[in-house]
Amino acid sequence: TPEPAESKATASFVVVANRLPVDRVEHADGSVDWRTSPGGLVTALEPVMRRQDGAWVGWHGAPDEALEPFENDGIQLVPVDLTAAEVEDYYEGFSNGTLWPLYHDVIATPGFHREWWDAYRKVNQRFAERTAAVAEQGAVVWVQDYQLQLVPAMLRALRPDLRIGFFLHIPFPPTELFQQLPWRDQILEGLLGADLVGFQVSGGAQNFLRLVRARLRQETHRDEIRTAEGRTVLARSYPIAIDASELHELSASEPVAARAAEIRHDLGDPDVLFLGVDRLDYTKGLLARLQAFGELIEDGTLDVDKVAFVQVATPSRERVEEYRQLRDEMDRLVGRINGDIGRIGRPPITYLHASYPRDEMAALYRAADVMVVTPLRDGMNLVAKEYVACRQADDGALVLSEFAGAARELRQAYLVNPYDVNGMKDKLIEAMQDSPRNKARRMKVMRRQVAEHDIDHWASAFLDDLGKTGPKA
Ligand code: ADP
Ligand code: G6P
Repeated sequence: TPEPAESKATASFVVVANRLPVDRVEHADGSVDWRTSPGGLVTALEPVMRRQDGAWVGWHGAPDEALEPFENDGIQLVPVDLTAAEVEDYYEGFSNGTLWPLYHDVIATPGFHREWWDAYRKVNQRFAERTAAVAEQGAVVWVQDYQLQLVPAMLRALRPDLRIGFFLHIPFPPTELFQQLPWRDQILEGLLGADLVGFQVSGGAQNFLRLVRARLRQETHRDEIRTAEGRTVLARSYPIAIDASELHELSASEPVAARAAEIRHDLGDPDVLFLGVDRLDYTKGLLARLQAFGELIEDGTLDVDKVAFVQVATPSRERVEEYRQLRDEMDRLVGRINGDIGRIGRPPITYLHASYPRDEMAALYRAADVMVVTPLRDGMNLVAKEYVACRQADDGALVLSEFAGAARELRQAYLVNPYDVNGMKDKLIEAMQDSPRNKARRMKVMRRQVAEHDIDHWASAFLDDLGKTGPKA
């Protein structure tokens, strides 16, 4: 439970993200709880911040609620308040109704509304001001993700003494798609306020460099941009990672091992357990994945008495229309598949619309024979890396979408095109039936990759590069 502020007024290292690592939730009886915020950004940055002395500026997840700075788990948290109207226009609107679908291959249609943009600007300005008030002279400030792309330039205008980094956790889109945005130049200029702009994969950095050249007529040389006012900005890729050793140890623990066995038992001890773990998001490719699995049972390739699929889906952005629709479609699809081909005590799909603590997630990963990660587009996808980190031996199999950033590093996964349902069916079978020797060969390489490129490695790669740029205060 968070403790009220004994907070130092300033910090020499500041992370700025739309969300704080914990969310304030109010129950029907008026009592208040804090819980870990959803998503990969918090999973990745929380351990980094626990090991650093610094402040985290972000929204606490509740509308119309003004909070004072407080401390949680050794991290100094600085809340930014949002009104209900700002949640609607800045967060659900411009961030998740415009940028999220635009940056994910327009899987859903982005909305372009001027009032959403106005709120985005206004809220970004508030984040910049809050940060300016917290950062010490010459501090390092690390701005995160698509919700805050204007903050680097706004912050630089207020505080030219700061060293400013920006990291985009989601894909940076192809230039043709980015150029649909009516406010494309403002976004590019916002990002150029940073000394270092980081992306998940090199293609993202290249798209950004091309746009800066073509649209803003700035000179670039390899990964360096020379801005009009004579500053140098770097654009590079830093594939994000997880706290691999911590998760591995959690998964190795006796209670987690026992829980993993219990999960398999409760599912009727299937020969093969398939697992999916995602935020309930249309980018994750949930429908096609479950359809592929359902067809494999329907056409007799898989035996409903011998296999089980567990799909865990965290509720997400539930007031945005596309997310509501997806939830309904999932309910319908799972209901139809289970109704059509299930037997008493044997629903082929166990669908859990819920969020679980880390130890339960570790038990699920440990229990699964085949992990199925099939996003239509994903900046990185940490779930794939978490599954690998939870292996206690060179066993298990990872089916992974070509369109997740993680596919660049986890080459030994069973790679699939998530739009190709037949291809996915073939891969699920291959991953299940491959010889233990082949599986071991693949998993061994992936385990080494995940263990060696962990979150500390990622943070120091970014922060070391940032340290070499910018003002020498
Ligand atoms: P995204 O950031 O788009 O949500 P990632 O795969 O990169 O996707 O990160 C998701 C994070 O959220 C992972 O750390 C994963 O363990 C966690 N997570 C996903 N679903 C659940 C769930 N149902 N309960 C608890 N944690 C979850
Ligand atoms: C992704 C985004 C994060 C976001 C998270 C959860 O990981 O990159 O910026 O915080 O999803 O989404 P939410 O809208 O609940 O913050």
